[in-house]
Amino acid sequence: MSLSIVILAAGKGTRMRSDLPKVLQPLAHKPLLGYVINASMSVNPSQLVIVYGYGGNLVKKAFPSEHIQWVEQKEQLGTGHAVQQAIPLIKDEGCTLILYGDVPLIDQETIQSLIKKGQKNLVVLTYQKENPKGYGRIVRKDDRIQKIVEEKDCDALQKNIKEINTGIMCAPNHLLKNWLKRLNNQNVQKEYYLTDIVGLSIEDNIEVLSESADNEVSITGINSKFELATMERSYQLMTAKKLMEEGVTIIDPSRIDIRGEVTAGQDVLIDVGCIFEGKVILGNHVKIAAYSHVKDSVIGDHTSIEPYSHIVQSVIGENCRIGPFARLRPGTKLQNKVHIGNFVEIKNSEVNNETNINHLSYVGDSLVGKSVNIGAGAITCNYDGANKHPTTIEDYVFIGSNTALVAPIKIGKGATIAAGSTITKDAPPGELTVSRSKQTSISGWTKPTKK
Ligand code: UD1
Ligand code: CA
Repeated sequence: MSLSIVILAAGKGTRMRSDLPKVLQPLAHKPLLGYVINASMSVNPSQLVIVYGYGGNLVKKAFPSEHIQWVEQKEQLGTGHAVQQAIPLIKDEGCTLILYGDVPLIDQETIQSLIKKGQKNLVVLTYQKENPKGYGRIVRKDDRIQKIVEEKDCDALQKNIKEINTGIMCAPNHLLKNWLKRLNNQNVQKEYYLTDIVGLSIEDNIEVLSESADNEVSITGINSKFELATMERSYQLMTAKKLMEEGVTIIDPSRIDIRGEVTAGQDVLIDVGCIFEGKVILGNHVKIAAYSHVKDSVIGDHTSIEPYSHIVQSVIGENCRIGPFARLRPGTKLQNKVHIGNFVEIKNSEVNNETNINHLSYVGDSLVGKSVNIGAGAITCNYDGANKHPTTIEDYVFIGSNTALVAPIKIGKGATIAAGSTITKDAPPGELTVSRSKQTSISGWTKPTKK
């Protein structure tokens, strides 16, 4: 049976007070509408229609998929009017599922049961809400749905009803088309209410079915920055729970942010305040200490990231120790047993096994061999103001503290560079290279005195 999905996304979202259309506001770094599109795609619809309005081009540009049909609702005259805009695209046979672009966490199982029930009847997704204020109420008689009444149209008795309309529904196309033609805007808000199709179904003697949502987050819509932040925490908790079920130790699941996808091996530990972005892969026994930020990176088995480290587009081997306060920038590739210490910045460089760069260094555009020691404050001068140049440091090299290596340059295998040197020419292997002025002391010198 053919399935159409219509996502309503034309609302402005005034309460967001933002230039960004509401459905593009980010939840875990991804626009709200993206979640609804993914949930829709997960049930393989024959067509996906999105009704857009406010900020139209921005919304379209954010989802350049050829599977999406876009329909503009020029004026927001109500949810019924919004669905009417999509109708010319919808086939006569099959059924249509209506989702909201600002209800991001609708789940696949709920969608599937709605589709099943919506083949012959209108089915409405409802929820028992302790505080139903603001929602349309489900009015039943002898247990059967009679109509949906909007909060603003409710009488005192109806206001006490706790079963609310989530807005999500599914109906056979031929019935939906007929009902939509019969809508009017004779109500307090002068809007074309989609919810009036419930009354029309009853008028036509066709029973209206319901499906009840069991999880409030899955039917919650977002209208304000506070609601967005509240949902962010729910979403983060769900993500953390999933990782914990896979065996990851998360010290405090309320203090972790995953804005992307984390894959973790066995016995991984994540301390508080860490942020993960993009695609992050953690090996077995990896430890991420407090307040670290890891983006699009791979971290090998038994490697430990110490507090406040910042790691982007890097690949780190096994048994490494990074940080505290380390910064690994894009293109960093560390082999095994590498130590990167505090206030060390590495960019676009490969560092081989058992090399230590422990304090206050900058290593950029470099190839660093194995068992190298780079002393405190040593830096590569890779940029001449116009171009970047490479540095090669071969195996077993010792770079003394506060050395400046002016690239392009090569330090030969086993060489030692004396502390404080400024190296502008290649250093031969095995030798000590010094470049600093000779130390002298002036005997008999006296300190100046104040006049
Ligand atoms: C609607 C339902 C209400 C339900 C509530 C759940 C109607 C008449 N009422 O309320 O019963 O409890 O949702 O949140 O359907 N939209 C458009 N074009 C429009 C109007 C709305 O695309 O002209 C979109 C919005 O962007 C949003 C969704 O439809 O995604 C719901 O609109 P909103 O105004 O939030 O819902 P209500 O009408 O208050
Ligand atoms: Ca409204």
